[in-house]
Parts: sequence; C-alpha cells; structure tokens
Amino acid sequence: MRSLLLTLLLCLGSIAGTFAGRSGRPPRGFVTTKGREFQLDGKPFYFVGANSYWLPHLTNQRDVEATFREMRDAGIKVLRTWGFNALNATELPDALSSNLTYYQVWDGPKWKLNDGPQGLRRLDNIVETAGKYGIKVIIAFTNNWGAYGGSSLYVNWIEPDGTHDAFYTNRKIISEYQRYVRVLVNRYKNSPNIFAWELMNEARCRGDMQNGPDCKAGSDTITHWYKEQSDFIRGLDSHHLITTGGEGHFYKRNEDVGYWYQGKWISDYNYNGQAGEDFDVDLTLDNIDFGTYHIYPQYWYANLDTPERDNFTIGAWGLDWIRQHAESAKEANKPVVLEEFGSFGYQNKTEIYPRWVGLALETRHAGILPWQFGMLGLKDGGGNRHLKYGDYIIDGASPNDGFTYYKNQTAVWKVFTDAAAVQNRRSR
Ligand SMILES: *[C@@H]1O[C@H](CO)[C@@H](O)[C@H](O)[C@H]1NC(C)=O
Ligand SMILES: *[C@@H]1O[C@H](CO)[C@@H](O)[C@H](O)[C@H]1NC(C)=O
Ligand SMILES: *[C@@H]1O[C@H](CO)[C@@H](O)[C@H](O)[C@H]1NC(C)=O
Ligand SMILES: *[C@@H]1O[C@H](CO)[C@@H](O)[C@H](O)[C@H]1NC(C)=O
Ligand SMILES: *[C@@H]1O[C@H](CO)[C@@H](O)[C@H](O)[C@H]1NC(C)=O
Repeated sequence: MRSLLLTLLLCLGSIAGTFAGRSGRPPRGFVTTKGREFQLDGKPFYFVGANSYWLPHLTNQRDVEATFREMRDAGIKVLRTWGFNALNATELPDALSSNLTYYQVWDGPKWKLNDGPQGLRRLDNIVETAGKYGIKVIIAFTNNWGAYGGSSLYVNWIEPDGTHDAFYTNRKIISEYQRYVRVLVNRYKNSPNIFAWELMNEARCRGDMQNGPDCKAGSDTITHWYKEQSDFIRGLDSHHLITTGGEGHFYKRNEDVGYWYQGKWISDYNYNGQAGEDFDVDLTLDNIDFGTYHIYPQYWYANLDTPERDNFTIGAWGLDWIRQHAESAKEANKPVVLEEFGSFGYQNKTEIYPRWVGLALETRHAGILPWQFGMLGLKDGGGNRHLKYGDYIIDGASPNDGFTYYKNQTAVWKVFTDAAAVQNRRSR
C-alpha cells in the first residue's frame, strides 16, 4: 500500500513531468518500449546481455575488440557497464601508476572530472566499439556500494557525519550527482549505441555505510529519489530509455513474507520494505521505462538450504522472485529485465541457471543479463594485471568473483548462448 503522501507527490509529479517528457520521435537505432517489449526500428528487441564493469579498464584495443567479438559470437546484444569510476584523491597516485581508469576525483565537496585518455575517453571507446559489434550499452551512474567509487564518496566529502540516507536526501549531494549525470548524458545523448541510462547500481537504504532514520520501510525515500533523477534525465535527453538499476525489492506486495529459521520467523527484507525499493510503485514512475531486478540468494540468505529451512532452496527462491517480477511488469505494462544473477559453484550454476533462465524466457522477460561475463586470453598487462580491490586479470582471464562464467565452462556458457538464440529469434 503506498502512502497518501506518495500518491499526492506522484500526481504532482505527473503534472511537473509534462515539462520533462519526451518530445519528437526517437532517432533511428534508439531502443524504445511498447508494452512489455523493447523495440528497435519497429521490430521487437529481446536480448541476452553481458555484465562487464572491467571492460572500460582494459588498456589495449585488441582486448577490447576481442571481448566484443566474443560477446557478439555468443549472441549478446547488450552490455551493461559502470559509467562511474571515482577515486578519492588519496588513491590517485596508485591509479596513475597502474593506469587504472577513473572518471571522477574527490578532494573536496566538488569532484573533478577526468575526461582525458585515462578517463572518459576509455568509456567513449567502449561505447563506440560496442556499436561496431552490434551491441548497445547500459550505463549506470553510481553505485550503492563502495566499489569503484560509489555513494560513500559523495557522503564522505559532502556530509561527513552523514549516514547512507544523505545520498538520497542531501541537496548538495543530489546536485553533485546530477552534475556528473549531466556530463555523461550530454556526452552520449545522440548515440544510438546507448541502450539505457541507469540511476544507480543496487540502490538500497543501506550501503557499505549504515542507513539513518530517513530511509526505512515505508519512507519512500528511494522512490522519490528515482522519480526526481529520472525526471531530471528526461529533461536532458528526450529519447534514451531510463531505468533504476535496482535489485527489485518489494514492499507490502504480500503480507508477511519470510521463513522459519531455528524456530524463529524471519521477515524477508526483500519483501518488507527494509531494503528500500518498492518495485511495484517504482515501475509506475513516468520516466522509469523498464524494471530491473537481481538474484543472489546465497548472498542474501546465508540460511537457505539448511535443514531448518525445509525446502526453501536457492533455486526455488529465485523462481518465485522471477515469477513475481514478471507479474509486476505485466501489471505496469512495461518491460522487465533480469539484469544480474549468480550462484556460487559450477554445479550450482549448471543446476540452477537453466531453471531460472528457462522461467525468465517463459515469462517473456525482455532482457536477461547474467553476472558476469568472463573473457579468457586477455593480453592486458601481459595477461596479468591488478585493477583494484580483488580484481585481477590472471593468466589472461578477466576478474573472477566466483560468479564469472568463461567460455571454457561449456555447460554454463551453453545455457546463455541457447537463451540468446531464443531471444534473438523473438526479435524479428
Ligand atoms: C595506459 O593505457 C593506455 C590506453 O588507455 C595505453 O595506450 C598505454 O600504453 C598505457 N600505459 C602503460 C604504461 O601501460
Ligand atoms: C577519502 O579520503 C579522505 C582523506 O583524504 C578520508 O578521510 C575518507 O575516509 C576517504 N573516503 C573514502 C570513501 O574513501
Ligand atoms: C520437502 O520436499 C519433500 C520431497 O519433495 C516433501 O515430501 C516434503 O513434504 C517437503 N517439505 C515441506 C516442508 O514442504
Ligand atoms: C552450492 O550451493 C550450496 C547451497 O548454498 C552451498 O552450500 C555450496 O557451497 C555451493 N557450492 C559451491 C561450490 O559453492
Ligand atoms: C577456465 O578458465 C579459467 C580461467 O583461466 C580457469 O580458472 C578454469 O580452471 C578453466 N575451467 C575449465 C573447466 O577449464
């Protein structure tokens, strides 16, 4: 149930929204939506995509081209990557000596742009090269998490005593976020190689920082933020699609979803609003063109598959989650994209992915993007290079976080190439 206040704001928003609406027909090569489908130049556009945040970090064009060629050969039509790579000034010397890609540097309450050869020129190259291989790019503007310089840098530098809430509520932070969004949107606004803009990777009330009192179940904080930012982008760019980049949490969709653990009823934070989104409501926002959600039950529920949890398995939890997002998208009459999912272990992957992907296909998901695409045979740094954090290129293999699938893992690879063939047949 949405609050009266939110309903009121959404109504006011639709009036204001008329000033930030689309104008004119989208240029050729831009993806549009029609009901639950994407369309490209008048034809349906269903896809399997690749997640790769490391691609803009590569320093040689041969590797970039080889990666796109491998994606194309696997039937992939969409790449999702990070449009953020922000550094604290203290990290700059290391970044310079390791040739790390960075777009923003924080050394005060106003970040500085790096649009040079180690900066946005690398993202330019990814967007441009993608087009050569018939691939379109989803670009996320920031991260809920610390990795590659997300929301905590904004909070640290602008409201140092703040909680994670400040990211969504502090006007100075919102204005610095929008200043960055404006740079990227203006840079690629005429490019048909952009599939969509994404407001944030995995917006939650909590990040690597704690939340405060303003972001909690029923506060609608993230919904308001989604609305303001999507309207802002629509004002800059009439035609590219816009989405949240969220994990797809529900709020009060079903009463009291949870599970028993050691004799105690645990309320499920993905359903009770505590995580922060309200997928059903967020998808109705004027300038949110399609829905996104993620699936990581092994991360989210360390307790699943224990005897106490009866038959509530990783696989089954994911199937429910897929079904419910498909229903919600049907209700909103907008496309839905399963844009990240993963399970640990090769055997878990080969058992679970065919079921999850199978159901996503059956429920006519417009897009499916496993986490995450792996590439072998990279020459960057002679085949061995430390990027940042635990991200390494080792013996030519792109970073492996346990979810990475490479072409040599033939059973998993085949799940996705088969699914891509189905989606590509639907795109005629
Ligand atoms: C750094 O990356 C650029 C590509 O962006 C490359 O041309 C250059 O050779 C690299 N420098 C070093 C020292 O590896
Ligand atoms: C950034 O660097 C400053 C010191 O200059 C430090 O106080 C702060 O914790 C750092 N913030 C992050 C998010 O790394
Ligand atoms: C768990 O699955 C088994 C076998 O499918 C079934 O017999 C049993 O009733 C199930 N238990 C619960 C609690 O659903
Ligand atoms: C597969 O999933 C189960 C259930 O979460 C887990 O216990 C097991 O460790 C996983 N296998 C691997 C190799 O990660
Ligand atoms: C596939 O390549 C990765 C990365 O080099 C390696 O770790 C893995 O053992 C290989 N898997 C198979 C099945 O050969």
